[in-house]
Amino acid sequence: MGDLGAYYVGLDIGTSGVKAALMSAAGNLEADAVAPLEVFRPKPGWSEQNPSDWWAATQSALDQLAKAHPQKMARVRGLGLSGQMHGATLIDKDDKVLRPAILWNDGRSAAECAEIERDCPNSREIAGNIAMPGFTAPKIAWVRKHEPDIYGRIAKVLLPKDYVRLCLSGDYVSDMSDAAGTLWLNVAERKWSPELLAATGLDESHMPRLVEGSEESALLRDDLRQRWGMGEKVVIAGGGGDNAVPACGIGAIRPGEGFVSLGTSGVLFVTNDRFRPNTKGAVHAFCHAVPNTWHQMGVILSASDSLNWLAHNLGQSGVALAGKVAENYQGPGEEIFLPYLSGERTPHNNAAARGSFVGLSHLSDSTRLAQAVMEGVAFAFKDCQRVLGDAGTVVNKLIAVGGGSNSRLWLEMIATLLDQEINILADGDFGGAFGAARLGLCAAEKADPFTVCTTPEIKTSVTPNRDWAAALNANYQRYRALYAAIEETRA
Ligand code: XUL
Repeated sequence: MGDLGAYYVGLDIGTSGVKAALMSAAGNLEADAVAPLEVFRPKPGWSEQNPSDWWAATQSALDQLAKAHPQKMARVRGLGLSGQMHGATLIDKDDKVLRPAILWNDGRSAAECAEIERDCPNSREIAGNIAMPGFTAPKIAWVRKHEPDIYGRIAKVLLPKDYVRLCLSGDYVSDMSDAAGTLWLNVAERKWSPELLAATGLDESHMPRLVEGSEESALLRDDLRQRWGMGEKVVIAGGGGDNAVPACGIGAIRPGEGFVSLGTSGVLFVTNDRFRPNTKGAVHAFCHAVPNTWHQMGVILSASDSLNWLAHNLGQSGVALAGKVAENYQGPGEEIFLPYLSGERTPHNNAAARGSFVGLSHLSDSTRLAQAVMEGVAFAFKDCQRVLGDAGTVVNKLIAVGGGSNSRLWLEMIATLLDQEINILADGDFGGAFGAARLGLCAAEKADPFTVCTTPEIKTSVTPNRDWAAALNANYQRYRALYAAIEETRA
């Protein structure tokens, strides 16, 4: 695997922060650094960030690594990128950013989704996905309609991590997994679709070049190599979206292998041997970050975000609140929470859906509300499993990832509802930044991703709790019925 004294950097351009990880040639995580990011919500349902903040945070995280680990940084040969998916970064012919990036959890473009599907009637077959406001193409259709001056100056549309790649290298490149989330990719053939691009008035000249996630995409600029004291040549891997890349970090790259992610968003992810769309249940079907591999996922827009929202309003932290729930837990409660704070993707595809608490009583204190939030997110995972199952997909190995998975109780609720064991990895952070570092190694050393992306040691597993199963499943049926009631009462 090349130089055994070499190191690789992984960068994860997340929504709440940028993380940089330093990995040895043996695949050990040696150090990491983070720099926080803020989300701006100028109107209800909108969600934006400044691309210059991603770049400033990236530089800060790498500056921290360079300061703390100069010898190891001098031996860096490869760098990989992971990032929040779907965000529309619009740049002009001089690479100037034209407006704040519109993010994955922004719901403003529902009308434009219908227009894209009308103008390109086979969009679902080509893209493998329903046109949803979270994806990139509808956001551009919104800009075309509401900000025509800006639209007219677009030279390139880049995804968040690909904008950071432009800053790192000067090159316009994307990878298959992230590109699949634009709604401009022919996902089966792994190439841009002229038909889909035309539905938003664009063509291939507006798109970056495409590579596989584990392939070389560009080289790090000389001035940046010098700034961070890195070696002579640093290869930047294609990388991928922040679901496919963590899957590489935990070794979920073979059919049936997947994960439950309890991050800002929630994801039930499974690897497929071929392109398997199921647009009926609002399942996402995307390319994986390794060649000739695809994946499906159900996406919950507000997972840990729901608990953090409640915690914020109660003047507490999400972690503290989850801890109180675990201390007082006596089984499934009466209160039901629907986690649709930013609308929902799977299974409803409804940007206008909103959250609810139902079944409150005089006993409903902050701890019980928090329990309801955790159970509500677990019900949303059950919904995802149901629609993945409708497409005939079987998940045979699940690993927990994301900050919320530190709560064993939360995982136990999910394992019980999915009726499936969930594995917990031995201590360490094997998320997006680590997966990105592994892809950096693959690209720099031309190593086989199926050899590099193995599953780290499993510490323990959470099994379904038979004592709670009946009550949780009964509440899941109430939860499902409540969505229909909310739909009916919407003006
Ligand atoms: C996936 C999605 C989210 C974001 C979160 O489709 O929108 O997972 O990538 O960062």
